Amino acid sequence: MRTLITDIGELTTHTAAGVLRDAAVLIEGDRIAWLGAASDAPTGDGDLVVVDAAGRAVIPGFIDSHSHIVFAGDRAAEFEARMAGGTYAAGGIRSTVAATRAAEEHELRRRLRGFIDEMRAQGTTTVEVKSGYGLDVATEERSVRLAAEVTDEVTFLGAHVVPAEYAEDPDGYVDLVIGPMLDACAPYARWIDVFCETGAFTVEQSRRVLEAGIARGLLPRIHAAQLGSGDGVRMAVALGAASVDHGTYLADEDIAALAESDTVLTLLPGVEFSTRQPYPDARRLIDAGVTVALACDTNPGSSFTSSMPFCIAVAVREMGMTPREALWAATAGGAAALRRDDIGRVDVGMRADLILLAAPSHVHLSYRPGVPLIAGVWKDGVTV
Ligand code: NIG
Ligand code: FE
Repeated sequence: MRTLITDIGELTTHTAAGVLRDAAVLIEGDRIAWLGAASDAPTGDGDLVVVDAAGRAVIPGFIDSHSHIVFAGDRAAEFEARMAGGTYAAGGIRSTVAATRAAEEHELRRRLRGFIDEMRAQGTTTVEVKSGYGLDVATEERSVRLAAEVTDEVTFLGAHVVPAEYAEDPDGYVDLVIGPMLDACAPYARWIDVFCETGAFTVEQSRRVLEAGIARGLLPRIHAAQLGSGDGVRMAVALGAASVDHGTYLADEDIAALAESDTVLTLLPGVEFSTRQPYPDARRLIDAGVTVALACDTNPGSSFTSSMPFCIAVAVREMGMTPREALWAATAGGAAALRRDDIGRVDVGMRADLILLAAPSHVHLSYRPGVPLIAGVWKDGVTV
């Protein structure tokens, strides 16, 4: 199968080629086979499907490197109370844990697939999916197994919070996570994650979790500095984490450590939007040399958007990113946060994961917030 997307008004490559005008892209199978000036494009023969972009923009597919979409239940009432003046607390996770444990597997699968479809329709072509609403061996195993049905980027987050039955023995829960739970979940996962925060896990507990995962061949990433600052960011950087996620409350030393490392900082604007916490100053972070990614953190508690265009718009409006920086962070940045070199850019040999925008420029993603601008999506060369 060959597809030629031609008459592209603005083609963002995220390579040395930069932005091409009046461009075309040739897809062969699941890969990009050629790109260049539309006037030089291969001419059609029988098997070539030609798509006329009619001057609109083409960008890489969005890479959403942080989601929690294996769960049951709903926390709309918690959101409503927060908008009336309440504050976000990690303890709300336990109510989703109760609903998720009680759910039938087919119901979790149905909802998970629904979220994947919802994301695809909004241009997300790669999504990382975490466990973390099971917090017992059977439900965590079920969560990573279901996640592995929909993505290669599966993260074991047994250390999301300490479940109620271990409230008096958090270290005992960590033993469970790094023992039988890791044994059951590691075969389905690529990543190990932990929520390092007051109310969740201490830095030392978090280090134990990440080191146990690393010893099992999983790659580390972390939730840190979401609700306050602490030593978790530097601990994760020292362990070589691919990404530190949230970073709402970073200390100067955290920023310096991130800037000197190849750990990505994944900012999650949906969380600040939905919890009314202060937006991180992405401008300052980027200027300091930190590599920034953007992701949705789709989850029923702190951020229930699955829209990367929404996160881009908020990052531009509230966090000081330029539209181009935000687009990079939502595509190439996400690829870096997932240590992937086959996605996030438009180049020969890369996966053909592309978005056709119903707009002449990527700037419209933040200039026209809330407007459905996704006119076409290709995932592995196939239209979604
Ligand atoms: O990334 N920070 C921890 N976990 C999620 C929130 C989960 C919840 O509130 O249910 C997050 O924000
Ligand atoms: Fe999260």
